[in-house]
Amino acid sequence: MIVDAGRLRAFLAALLTALGAPADKADLVAGLLVEADLRGVDSHGAHLMGLYVSRIRAGDLRPSADPVVIADDGATVHLDAGLGLGQVAGMAAVGLAVERSASHGTAVIAVREATHLGALGAYTGRVAEAGHIAVLFQNGPTFVPPFGGVTPVFSTNPLSYAVPTGEEPTIVYDVATTAVAGNKVLLAKKRGDATIPAGWANDELGRPTTSAEAASVRHLQWFGGHKGFGLGLLVELMAGVLAGSSFGHTEQTASPRHGDERVAKGFTLLALDPARFLPTDDFRRRVDTLVRDVRSSERAEGVDRIWLPGEPEHETRLARLRDGIPLPGPLVDELNGFAEDLAVGPLE
Ligand SMILES: NC(=O)c1ccc[n+]([C@@H]2O[C@H](COP(=O)([O-])OP(=O)(O)OC[C@H]3O[C@@H](n4cnc5c(N)ncnc54)[C@H](O)[C@@H]3O)[C@@H](O)[C@H]2O)c1
Repeated sequence: MIVDAGRLRAFLAALLTALGAPADKADLVAGLLVEADLRGVDSHGAHLMGLYVSRIRAGDLRPSADPVVIADDGATVHLDAGLGLGQVAGMAAVGLAVERSASHGTAVIAVREATHLGALGAYTGRVAEAGHIAVLFQNGPTFVPPFGGVTPVFSTNPLSYAVPTGEEPTIVYDVATTAVAGNKVLLAKKRGDATIPAGWANDELGRPTTSAEAASVRHLQWFGGHKGFGLGLLVELMAGVLAGSSFGHTEQTASPRHGDERVAKGFTLLALDPARFLPTDDFRRRVDTLVRDVRSSERAEGVDRIWLPGEPEHETRLARLRDGIPLPGPLVDELNGFAEDLAVGPLE
């Protein structure tokens, strides 16, 4: 089905409201899910509703909760998100990061008892659109073993950075530190894909596989082997250890769900005001210069175009705003199943 962004947002917001989310929070979450679909990050758009529906119904995610300030030292703020909707805490952190970075030159917002943020680039991108460099880390349930290990200690531990530009699209790097997000494997299974690319995941016995059916979301591979693992460890340190959240095998949460079922995640957002180092216009021009140096590199054989992080999503967004968002049939069926249960009009 091809669906218009506005219609999808209203539909998802209606589902969330029917599940008990206040209207403003439902709209905020729906807007960020649709933004991921618009940007082509299909693993973190409407596909996530299944996860959120089951967590809200189980009482694991508290849709009315607001983040609470635990400590505020100006440039650093520590929040407790109360197991509320991750996007609500994420947007609260964005607002604080921009405000504090503007007044102090830099800001660190660490959040414990958060839940799933969705696609991290939505938050770093907003901080960059407001003129600041941003870096964001989020940890989560333990289902990824360390490099060379078989005992799970980590999540897919995503990392995003974004940098303001002048005339070029904002640079937004947004990745899981595993080879892919677990949701990409789940989405491939939901779509009924026969295969997944080599290097994404192993099967239940830890053997590399390209079969979507055999691939295990509990045996994802790290991106770049030990290098991705090292960055995943940094995410665990910043988002789990530093934020006072659960990490590794240590649980520090009011949630009854632990280990590989853990719902509570930590995240830490860093912001830096480039104007403390260079006049703003000068900085943005210099970033644009680097972007153009990268883009104008002579291309390797068979390569049509060199992309900057964030560019593919920027172009997909423009196309999907114009043409609509393609949603796979099984996903539409799933969403309409929720709608029927919740007495919400179907997505047509
Ligand atoms: N909240 C969570 O707990 C959680 C956990 C894991 C992942 N995620 C999200 O999953 C999403 C997908 O993660 P992923 O690891 O599968 O991402 P991915 O492998 O698709 O990489 C995406 C990044 O690579 C850039 N990119 C893509 N093609 C490029 C090219 N040819 N040249 C240069 N740059 C290019 C994109 O602009 C983007 O920044 C992210 O939004 C991430 O935040 C969230």
